[in-house]
Amino acid sequence: MDHFALRNGVLHVEDVPLPAIAEAVGTPVYVYSRATLVRHAQVFREGLSGLDDPHIAFAVKSNPNLAVLRVLAKEGFGADVVSGGELTRALAAGMKPDDVVFSGVGKTHAELVQGIEVGIGQFNIESEEEGHELSLIAQRRGVRVACALRVNPDVDARTHEKISTGKRENKFGVPLDRAASIYATLAEQPGLEMRGVAVHIGSQLGDLDPLETAFTKLGALIAELRANGQTVTHADLGGGLGVPYKKGETYPTPAEYGAMVARVTRDWGVRLSFEPGRVIAGNAGVLLTRVIRSKRSGNGPPFVIVDAAMNDLARPAMYGAWHDFDAVEPTGERMTAHIVGPICETGDTFAMDREIDALSAGDLAVFRTAGAYGATMASSYNSRGYVAEVLVDGDRFAVVADRIMPHSIMDAERVPEWL
Ligand code: LLP
Repeated sequence: MDHFALRNGVLHVEDVPLPAIAEAVGTPVYVYSRATLVRHAQVFREGLSGLDDPHIAFAVKSNPNLAVLRVLAKEGFGADVVSGGELTRALAAGMKPDDVVFSGVGKTHAELVQGIEVGIGQFNIESEEEGHELSLIAQRRGVRVACALRVNPDVDARTHEKISTGKRENKFGVPLDRAASIYATLAEQPGLEMRGVAVHIGSQLGDLDPLETAFTKLGALIAELRANGQTVTHADLGGGLGVPYKKGETYPTPAEYGAMVARVTRDWGVRLSFEPGRVIAGNAGVLLTRVIRSKRSGNGPPFVIVDAAMNDLARPAMYGAWHDFDAVEPTGERMTAHIVGPICETGDTFAMDREIDALSAGDLAVFRTAGAYGATMASSYNSRGYVAEVLVDGDRFAVVADRIMPHSIMDAERVPEWL
């Protein structure tokens, strides 16, 4: 089911025509579909229906907007957070502390304290050093905190190198061959209740095999830990399922993923948790933009200059990522063009030599699959503002993040009196 479809020649999100949003809120603007978020949450949950009471923690980093988090909280999702800021958001959105998992390789002292004070469900510890620090903080407060040890299984996730996290040379987790001894050491710390293991090998995975390899290694570790007399009641399998960014691409479905997980973990006897981000939010959002003008240079295709830029949607500049680009009111005519933003560097390029709907100055268009790792990675480079966000629900919509104007950003700056 697609909640982003042409009706009478105009692209709608659910029942709202995109020109109405552009008119009311301006462009560029991220537009999310509540129905799509809910559907993706349900499809993911159904995919795991062969498992006993799985815990699902939405990866807040993929879309931390409060309204988006509220939609998922209502679907019964918890949160996977990687900073104090994300933790604050998850709780503000209505996620229960007990349903929050705190991941991340560099949790600060203040963040560890914050996690303990609000009573989160689980810390995913990424090093022995972090475990010792967390234990001391917990002990001082007279509590024991539930923890999983994140292991680095040294598996190539076969995704973009910048979003691959499970190779030996990546900074994440503890090496698999040291995991049993680190687990044993941490299990003796008075502030920690070591209850399980965690793994996350990367994002935008197009193939289940690397995940299966990683999970199989995790299963062997669980058996080894138990053989050593350790308690293991939980395992966190992370996120990572990829989504199609190009029309016609296919990716493993949550059902296929769930079937693989059920098969591999059949004998583990643990409660499993999951940290999906992109698969829930990616195709639930678009970035709506307006063509500023086109320009020709030399003999090549024209540059279509849009009012969105690499500061609003960083993925193409950062990872060479592809986002489908479609006119909001396509005429049926096509053209070949380079799609660029207004920022003063060549990296501000969304696509080269792309066949697209014919567009001219003033026309609206969308970058698709922008609901995950979109607005959250925005910056104010070139003294542009922060892009606004809108949530659609049936025939209504609401601004769920104001556009932050350049002058507001400037308001936080000071020129010292000695200048
Ligand atoms: N759990 C952990 C520990 C993670 O590091 C991540 C993503 C997730 C879960 C969620 O993964 P997902 O289900 O969304 O694949 N900015 C990049 C993606 C970075 C992903 C970082 N970690 C991009 O735009 O492609």
